[in-house]
Amino acid sequence: MATIDVIRTRRNIKDFKPDPIYRDELMSWLEAASYAPNHRLNEPWELLFIGPDTRAKLNHKADFGGAPVVLAVLSKHAPTEFERDENVIAASCFVQNFLLAAHEAGAGVRWTSLGVLPRNRQILGIPEDYDVIGVFGVGYPAEVPAAKPRTPIASKITYLS
Ligand SMILES: Cc1cc2nc3c(=O)[nH]c(=O)nc-3n(C[C@H](O)[C@H](O)[C@H](O)COP(=O)(O)O)c2cc1C
Repeated sequence: MATIDVIRTRRNIKDFKPDPIYRDELMSWLEAASYAPNHRLNEPWELLFIGPDTRAKLNHKADFGGAPVVLAVLSKHAPTEFERDENVIAASCFVQNFLLAAHEAGAGVRWTSLGVLPRNRQILGIPEDYDVIGVFGVGYPAEVPAAKPRTPIASKITYLS
């Protein structure tokens, strides 16, 4: 697929087949994701692979759509608020790369923001100095939802003199 088609056809996947994701393949998507832009090459992202006991404790309403893999992406704080924001931005670029790499390979990802809740941070053992970008179910889609239409980009543009 051309990059532009990978971008356009990626969807947030709600339900997964039980088929496993092979570790080497998953690692290849994560490795590719690490080519995301990041200031001073500080690579602020870190990953938590969430095993069955921890997953059960999170008690997600749909159990991540039955995804065979659940992982969290974290972003490390920084000495200043500005740099902390930069790290969150870079880690979000990492996530988008990961979503696209998985999608191109025929897999899919369900993004959940439950990692921001203090209870879930505690279950995941997130240190004080990390932001949770998201907790992600990863697997092969049982169903791919239709794309939700986007606002015409021209209406988002302001031209400065
Ligand atoms: C920061 C962030 C948090 C999100 N949190 C959730 C979430 O908690 N639950 C959920 O179902 N989707 C979540 N999503 C996914 C969006 O709902 C989804 O991307 C949006 O509906 C557009 O659908 P698409 O990704 O299929 O184009 C999140 C996305 C982002 C970027």
